[in-house]
Amino acid sequence: MKRFKDTLPDATAPLFHAMNLLSESGTARFHMPGHKGEPIFQTFSEIFAIDFTETYGTGNLYTGEGPIREAELAAARFYHAADCLFLTGGSTQGVLSMLAAAVPPGGELLIDRCCHKSVCTALALLDLEPHFLVPPVLEPFGIPSALGTAAVEAALDAHPGARALLVTSPNYYGVRQPLEELARLCHARGRLLLVDAAHAAHFPAVRLPSPVQEGADCAVLSAHKTLPCLGQGAFLLCGGGVAPEALREAAALFGTSSPSYPILCSLDLARAWAEGQGATAFHESAKACAAVRSLVSGSTPFLALEPEMAPHGLDPCRLTVCTAGTSLTGHALADVLFGEFAIACEMADARNVVFILTGADAPRSIQRLRQGLAKIAKRTRQAPLPEKSAPPGLPQRKMRVREAWFAPHERTPLADASGKVCARPVTPYPPGAPLVYPGEEISAVQIELLRKRCYNEIETVSQGCAKAPVGHV
Ligand SMILES: Cc1ncc(COP(=O)(O)O)c(C=O)c1O
Repeated sequence: MKRFKDTLPDATAPLFHAMNLLSESGTARFHMPGHKGEPIFQTFSEIFAIDFTETYGTGNLYTGEGPIREAELAAARFYHAADCLFLTGGSTQGVLSMLAAAVPPGGELLIDRCCHKSVCTALALLDLEPHFLVPPVLEPFGIPSALGTAAVEAALDAHPGARALLVTSPNYYGVRQPLEELARLCHARGRLLLVDAAHAAHFPAVRLPSPVQEGADCAVLSAHKTLPCLGQGAFLLCGGGVAPEALREAAALFGTSSPSYPILCSLDLARAWAEGQGATAFHESAKACAAVRSLVSGSTPFLALEPEMAPHGLDPCRLTVCTAGTSLTGHALADVLFGEFAIACEMADARNVVFILTGADAPRSIQRLRQGLAKIAKRTRQAPLPEKSAPPGLPQRKMRVREAWFAPHERTPLADASGKVCARPVTPYPPGAPLVYPGEEISAVQIELLRKRCYNEIETVSQGCAKAPVGHV
């Protein structure tokens, strides 16, 4: 089979092309990295060859120069963004950068409560003050649905000091937010819309708009989650409202001073593939995903999350299979799929198993998934549906996130935690959304919530510190 690399016209992936030319130029490499491009480990030989540092012809990520810049501009065109920055620290680096550039230190912002734990890290590092929006629950899946626009509008009006709204779209289960409407509400009030689109790097390949096309001022996309990109590769997209220079400066603040060229090249390649032959592959994957959904809902006791069940649509390549109303939990279904059929899902929770499909899935893998689900279905009994899961009420905030995070703290048995202040986010992973944030008071509601998730101790702020802010470190 011809390798994708050999089928690429030179200009299609400018960074990857430039690094290949350099690696084949015969230059004596008296610079980092230490492998000098030599095939010391056979498995890494092609990766080592294009693994450079900032030197002649390689460009510089943080000054936005050279072939890296060309590759970023190609990605900006792909996502219909005003600009695009490459990241080698995942969406985590993007979330931190976006918030540092968009919200002044100590500032306020609105956040959907189901956001990723990297947001909590940003709150602590930048001393930001969150106002949370709790999304409704989508039943019988028991998962976060899209935010109601009326609730967002009310929150924007209730918190005039909030500089920005940060939402996750799509979420881990593929549920999309009404971004166009949220952008309109934010912009009408002079606020910014920031989107954690970590799971949406493939959207243009499935003919969905990128978040900035829908009006977001800034969005971060983990290319490594849904595109053929090395781990940690991510795109930071600029719409308007946040200066690209400020974003690049912030990205340098949170990123390594030695960004990986293989990761940067794989971002370039992933984008080139997604706008070329990958688009056809993604189209096939979306069709296969729809067919598995029909099989699940039509011929098994399980229920697939369908696009029309989500108020503002779904990622067509995300498959969520709900086991509520059957004798299996999501975790049990995931274990059987892995143990008996060698099928590894992305994540499972008490009621669901989530599968990520992409343009890279082999038809035989999808066939195996269909067969595995059909076989397990035959030995699965119906059971009563679980009770509806109301979204838990928000705990009372007693300290700023940063104060609580950096305060002296101790491990506390959950049974003794009532009335104490949480010192570290309590985060089941995946999906990685904290159940309790630093600075929040633990009450009976949180104890029950955490007990159900099998936590038996948490970090709490040491007695005596909870009422005395510790200041900045
Ligand atoms: C919604 C969301 N945002 C951000 C992240 C962090 O992404 P990364 O692993 O690329 O840093 C994740 C990771 O799972 C995520 O699910």
